[in-house]
Amino acid sequence: MRPRRFLPSAPLKGRIRVPGDKSISHRSIMLGALAVGETRVTGLLEGEDVLSTAAAMRAMGAQVERLGEGSWSVHGVGVGALLQPQAALDMGNSGTSTRLLMGLVASHPITASFIGDASLSKRPMGRVIEPLSRMGAQFTASPGDRLPLMLRGAQPAVPIEYRLPVASAQVKSAVLLAGLNTPGVTTVIEPIPTRDHSERMLRGFGAQLDVEIEVDGTRVIRIRGEAELRPQVIDVPGDPSSAAFFIVAALVVPGSELLIENVGLNPTRAGLVEVLQQMGGDITLRNAREVGGEPVADLLVKHSALRGIAVDPAIAPSMIDEFPALFVAAALAEGTTVTTGLDELRVKESDRLAVMAAALSAAGARVSEQEDGLTIEGTGGEPLPGTAGAIATHLDHRIAMSMAVAGLASRAGVEVDDTRPIATSFPVFEAMLDGLAG
Ligand code: S3P
Repeated sequence: MRPRRFLPSAPLKGRIRVPGDKSISHRSIMLGALAVGETRVTGLLEGEDVLSTAAAMRAMGAQVERLGEGSWSVHGVGVGALLQPQAALDMGNSGTSTRLLMGLVASHPITASFIGDASLSKRPMGRVIEPLSRMGAQFTASPGDRLPLMLRGAQPAVPIEYRLPVASAQVKSAVLLAGLNTPGVTTVIEPIPTRDHSERMLRGFGAQLDVEIEVDGTRVIRIRGEAELRPQVIDVPGDPSSAAFFIVAALVVPGSELLIENVGLNPTRAGLVEVLQQMGGDITLRNAREVGGEPVADLLVKHSALRGIAVDPAIAPSMIDEFPALFVAAALAEGTTVTTGLDELRVKESDRLAVMAAALSAAGARVSEQEDGLTIEGTGGEPLPGTAGAIATHLDHRIAMSMAVAGLASRAGVEVDDTRPIATSFPVFEAMLDGLAG
């Protein structure tokens, strides 16, 4: 454990550049490992989760090398040519690595064991086991369809048409990636849109993938196997989920004015900015452009008097990882913020509804927990009292970073029991914060 007390902060001023997007970084390595030839990646997030993906792709035959900071080279083996790994694939804390790689392995003639840390070993894998079994893969999982598990891929796999029962980009991606090495057309039907990086990137790598949008907004995604992928040059945009902590910090710490550069604003990821603007947050987009086929802008964020709102549950998938940060903003807003439709937060790196309710309450916020959301009475801009002891982060990086931000806008500071999980997604978070607040 590495505890730390995050203390009340001076105004946050200046400019920062957030590290590369985690979702896109994972996919860059995976798809690069399946293309024949060299894929070059810049701006790759060098967090532990992405390094777990890199190690797994190496274990299955790809050459994955770091050339310099954020600059990587991947020599792929070709779709269908992944090798049998010689040892268990250690996924660490990373649900994305686990579920997407299960998809890849499912249509290769190899057997792989997946293991992970205590947090990952509690997370449900049935949601990917179910469709991948229909494609012919075989699983031996721990009770409750959890890790550790063993997966025997099918050869050949059978194409399926699969309607997603949960709004999950990981499940969608697992089936699409399995479809890469499956003869014929694999179809995923997505009633509620989730992040579309897999679709964009698979197309970019040359897969035959098309998306049809029905009148009610349902997306029908079809991929044709057996695909041949062409190596790419990828510049990974900054991660909006990492920017989130600094956006909220600048909004809640009086006197702040912060420019956050290079923030990915794919519409399937940009919900937090919209919700904070509805709450009265002063966030301006500058220099809107495209990086790596994704919309990107610099965000100028100024301290603002926030107002509580009822958050439309329809926006949840586009900010699914940002709720812990939003709850901190709500705790410092004027009036009541009500969130609903957030059942999925209970199966992230921790149960983010229960853990944030407990952590914010310990810091003196007024929070009540419902089955599918939190209701938060804000302080109206007054600092939170702060914590006496340490709040429990349960191996969840986003709980640690959110409560660090709460500490900046508190009287006594907020102590976080363990900052080590931050390195899974944002290794330079503390250095960046100390650079601004110091
Ligand atoms: C991700 C999808 C989301 C998100 C996770 C990354 C991805 O998970 O929470 O951090 O890269 O596909 P779900 O698919 O479980 O919603």
